[in-house]
Amino acid sequence: MTLGHQKRKPVVPLRITGTGAYLPQKVLTNADLASFLETSDEWIRTRTGILTRHVLSQGEVPAQMGVRAAERALTMAKKSPEDVDLLLVATNVPEEPIPGTAPHIALGLGLKKTPFFDVTAGCAGFIYALAMAGAMMRTGLSCTAIVVGTEALSRFINWQDRSTCVLFGDGAGAVLLERAEGNAGILGIALRGDPTKLGLLRIEAGGVRLPATVDTVQAGKHFLQMEGKGLFRAAVGMMAEATRAAAAQARIALSEIDWVIPHQANLRIIEALVKRLRIPAEKVVVNIDRVANTSTASIPIALDELVRAAKVERGQILALTAFGAGACYGTVILRW
Ligand SMILES: CC(C)(COP(=O)(O)OP(=O)(O)OC[C@H]1O[C@@H](n2cnc3c(N)ncnc32)[C@H](O)[C@@H]1OP(=O)(O)O)[C@@H](O)C(=O)NCCC(=O)NCCS
Repeated sequence: MTLGHQKRKPVVPLRITGTGAYLPQKVLTNADLASFLETSDEWIRTRTGILTRHVLSQGEVPAQMGVRAAERALTMAKKSPEDVDLLLVATNVPEEPIPGTAPHIALGLGLKKTPFFDVTAGCAGFIYALAMAGAMMRTGLSCTAIVVGTEALSRFINWQDRSTCVLFGDGAGAVLLERAEGNAGILGIALRGDPTKLGLLRIEAGGVRLPATVDTVQAGKHFLQMEGKGLFRAAVGMMAEATRAAAAQARIALSEIDWVIPHQANLRIIEALVKRLRIPAEKVVVNIDRVANTSTASIPIALDELVRAAKVERGQILALTAFGAGACYGTVILRW
């Protein structure tokens, strides 16, 4: 094993001292979907790798999930909300258009004067928010930050559209970041955007461009629309390029990465990505079979599972990579 990277100082010295996740109780299997859609377990499993997904029940909201995930991260880190001086919330669909999701999570956590805001960067939102928290910690604006990804796309999916509704699940994940001396921290960041691809994944109505009217609702324009094939084709190249760039900034070889935590959008995308990067399958964290695509929550949920299974060791290198609407994509490489 090459350990040359151990000598290199991180661009942002920090430690992830807590992780947490929350998945709604209600589970939908592929067979459940096949009971009201023209689809099958076989199609969904072979095309996506998904077997089950969690979805919010009526009355539950994404901020509650975010609060639970953040509380679990705080408990792991043995910290209390008073210790937190920054809250960033990655999400695509806000709790309400104004004031978004972050204040609801701050309220639920009992934060008082802590700054908070939402970060919208498609399914890459968690990567962007992590990078932003790191940048704010580096400039001294924050010492202890919570970054949450929480998503309830089940509320924006057309449950009669088999090409989208089988893919997504609800959930939340969170990390607690603490400034730290030493070798742990962010080694490399590559954030990217390709606005020529903004049509690949969108909810057209409900914003300023196309405010909600009876017509927009009747036309189904408040539902998520996706060009699956176009996204599939773009995803592998985007995440591979960002991972190579982040590794170059970190001055590590891809072979030095111990764990890859990719956005869980499609098992075939993940397999093609790691094949392109020549990273062995045993280094790749996959939970899409159980949770489907939870968008901004997918990476922190997968990270939490890895941490709670006691698989990550101090000094190991993690690459977190995602792509999504926008198209926004990026990779953060960190030393645990
Ligand atoms: C959506 C996706 C799974 C489709 O897989 P695919 O290999 O491109 O699909 P295929 O070409 O094999 O199949 C398409 C056919 O299956 C049908 N189909 C779509 N969803 C189906 C379903 N749930 N069940 C059965 N058939 C389905 C389509 O109607 C189409 O039929 P047609 O050829 O008669 O028109 C894949 O493109 C994908 O994962 N894309 C990326 C999506 C993504 O990452 N989104 C989130 C970004 S953050």
